[in-house]
Amino acid sequence: MLIIIIILLLLSSLLLSIDPATTTTTTFPDGHSTVLPDPSTFFSPNLISSPLPTNTFFTNLIIENGTQHEYIHPYTIKSSHSTLSLSYPSLFSNSSFTNQIFTPDINISISQNPKPNRNHTVSSFSDLSLTLDFKPFLRFFLVRGSPYLTCQVLQNVPLIILTGHNIINFVPNGLKTKYKIFLSNNQVWILYSSTPIGLTRKASTIVSETFRGVIRLALLPNPNSGMEQVLDKFSSCYPVSGHALFRESFSIEYRWKSRGLGDLLMLANPLHLKLVKDSSVKILDEFKYQSVDGELVGVVGSSWKLKTDPVKVTWHSIKGVEKDSYPEIVKALVEDVKGLDSSNMSTNSSYFYGKLVARTARLALIAEEVEYVDVIPKVRQYLKDTIEPWLDGTFVGNGFLYDKTWGGIITRQGSNDRMGDFGFGIFNDHHFHIGYFLYGIAVLAKIDPAWGEKYRPQAYSLMLDFMTLGKGSDLKYTRLRMFDLWKLHSWAAGLNEFEDGRNQESTSEAVNAYYAAALMGLAYDDPRLVALGSLLTSLEIRAAQTWWHVKEGSTLYGAEFTRTNRVVGILWQNKRESVLWFAPAEQKEFRLGIQLLPILPVSEVLFSDHEYAKQLVEWALPSLKREGVGEGWKGFVYALEGVYDKENALKKIRKLTGHDDGNSLSNMLWWIFSR
Ligand SMILES: *[C@@H]1O[C@H](CO)[C@@H](O)[C@H](O)[C@H]1NC(C)=O
Ligand SMILES: *[C@@H]1O[C@H](CO)[C@@H](O)[C@H](O)[C@H]1NC(C)=O
Ligand SMILES: *[C@@H]1O[C@H](CO)[C@@H](O)[C@H](O)[C@H]1NC(C)=O
Ligand SMILES: *[C@@H]1O[C@H](CO)[C@@H](O)[C@H](O)[C@H]1NC(C)=O
Ligand SMILES: *[C@@H]1O[C@H](CO)[C@@H](O)[C@H](O)[C@H]1NC(C)=O
Repeated sequence: MLIIIIILLLLSSLLLSIDPATTTTTTFPDGHSTVLPDPSTFFSPNLISSPLPTNTFFTNLIIENGTQHEYIHPYTIKSSHSTLSLSYPSLFSNSSFTNQIFTPDINISISQNPKPNRNHTVSSFSDLSLTLDFKPFLRFFLVRGSPYLTCQVLQNVPLIILTGHNIINFVPNGLKTKYKIFLSNNQVWILYSSTPIGLTRKASTIVSETFRGVIRLALLPNPNSGMEQVLDKFSSCYPVSGHALFRESFSIEYRWKSRGLGDLLMLANPLHLKLVKDSSVKILDEFKYQSVDGELVGVVGSSWKLKTDPVKVTWHSIKGVEKDSYPEIVKALVEDVKGLDSSNMSTNSSYFYGKLVARTARLALIAEEVEYVDVIPKVRQYLKDTIEPWLDGTFVGNGFLYDKTWGGIITRQGSNDRMGDFGFGIFNDHHFHIGYFLYGIAVLAKIDPAWGEKYRPQAYSLMLDFMTLGKGSDLKYTRLRMFDLWKLHSWAAGLNEFEDGRNQESTSEAVNAYYAAALMGLAYDDPRLVALGSLLTSLEIRAAQTWWHVKEGSTLYGAEFTRTNRVVGILWQNKRESVLWFAPAEQKEFRLGIQLLPILPVSEVLFSDHEYAKQLVEWALPSLKREGVGEGWKGFVYALEGVYDKENALKKIRKLTGHDDGNSLSNMLWWIFSR
């Protein structure tokens, strides 16, 4: 009986948190960056002592002048000269891209001398929200997915609401707690206030009497629907922050803090709607806003449970390799391992170096799977020789450092060059680069546990750079650096101002990062790390399938865009693009390849929809007829063809004369023979 109770207690403590052992130390030497901005310009002083977010939905508001707009669903906001501008963005789409256009429809400020501080202050932030202050007068609760923008007026001041359009009509209710504002661009906005507010209109400006309290603004997308009644009904309960809780495997729970009366109304994106498995929330199918991410739909409830598909993280192929194929794979393995030489590494870039490490680690796992372990000692030695210098700080020409100002790893080459290591020093692409290293570390720790134990602190430092779950001044890294807990995928772009917000290109490299971390959890016997890595792997996959994979006939994006593109190139907060950072839209094999590499056991989960895989391959194949297409990129097209036509794919793969730097013939054959 006692044993059962103890087991239950252990299990419940495991379920209560899947935070991989948080550590308050880092193993990398302090670095001095000459390219990072000073966070104290925008973050309030009490936040500066903790690690700060670098790849979030509000990054534009905390770098440069903080004046570039950001998307908080369903509105875009911009803060400049103590004015907050609000836009319900219009959508544009053609065959090259789909984006949304910021127009300052409503501008909120105060009429007061002296004016508030010129710069806004981030006074707090959470997984799903940002609190922005124009000190000492205004506070905006920018909670993602709220159909209302909420502004708290902290002192008795007159408000000014200015619009770039003409005000056609302006209608208060009897109590002066609700005003309908009809604009010349056909938009109807509703202003709600917590207590009566006297507003007068002068041309396209609305001025208030002195006021203290809460006002909320909402666009009424369809004036002739029941949406106005819904907005009225939920106007008194406003969210101030929102957190994601990690309590059970393959699920997260949103919980908002709110004030006021009544139930909380928020909007769900298309992926939320697939994952929301919660009888305690009510979905309002008819309450909808448009967005570049697809329709946003009303949900009533102050917490939602989101459940995703379990993904089993495995070292080897999920369904096994055909025995008959072993000799062919072994032959390739022998050749690939013969070519390993750690003394002549062709690169010192953290990205390309990591890819070579991970490519080699695959060879050890393939050797295990086809029972040809003779090659493993050489692979092990190569992995040791190439990984150790990065972990113990002896790598010549580059290496990992710790930046104290934001709280994160930077590279030596990225510490004085914004573009060094693809911007690693401004927190770009951390999951991609580190993910490849983690893959190598996981495999080496598996085949050489003593090595794993020795380098465990360094391995965890790297992983925690982008997978810390906790928050606080005693931690070294910000919470889930790359992962967006509202969109449920990662952003690769770090501290760089972009008109279209954060972006990510390769979803498969993002999947690799969380998957490699889960493998590391297996190697180190750390079930919490396995659980967190597996959960984020699953979510990143679901998001890729929702927003990057463009299936024929899908209505998520514009018809012309959908006809022309089977996969998104770069996905931005405000835009879907057909080009890549490194290739034009016509080079479709690049677009396919960058969403498939590296080829791993989990790749079959990412491309579990074989009908879609076929559409993508048939769309990309004509591109291979161009002059000078690289063998490596051809290989990815053939690999994906292998999920639905193994024989043809195999014929083509056997004829390839080269492979991507992160790939090998051994890996290609292993992939095909495990289909
Ligand atoms: C920031 O503001 C200054 C002064 O107004 C201006 O010169 C500069 O171009 C702005 N920088 C950006 C990135 O907008
Ligand atoms: C406001 O922001 C600018 C950068 O855009 C910075 O140079 C200036 O020092 C800031 N002012 C204050 C009071 O923080
Ligand atoms: C799509 O629209 C943009 C902006 O108007 C334009 O620059 C681009 O050429 C258009 N693409 C196509 C294929 O028409
Ligand atoms: C490194 O050495 C191996 C084996 O000696 C050789 O096959 C390979 O081409 C070399 N690579 C480079 C980049 O020089
Ligand atoms: C990194 O490698 C490149 C090319 O291999 C070389 O030109 C460069 O000098 C190296 N950088 C450092 C800092 O060693």
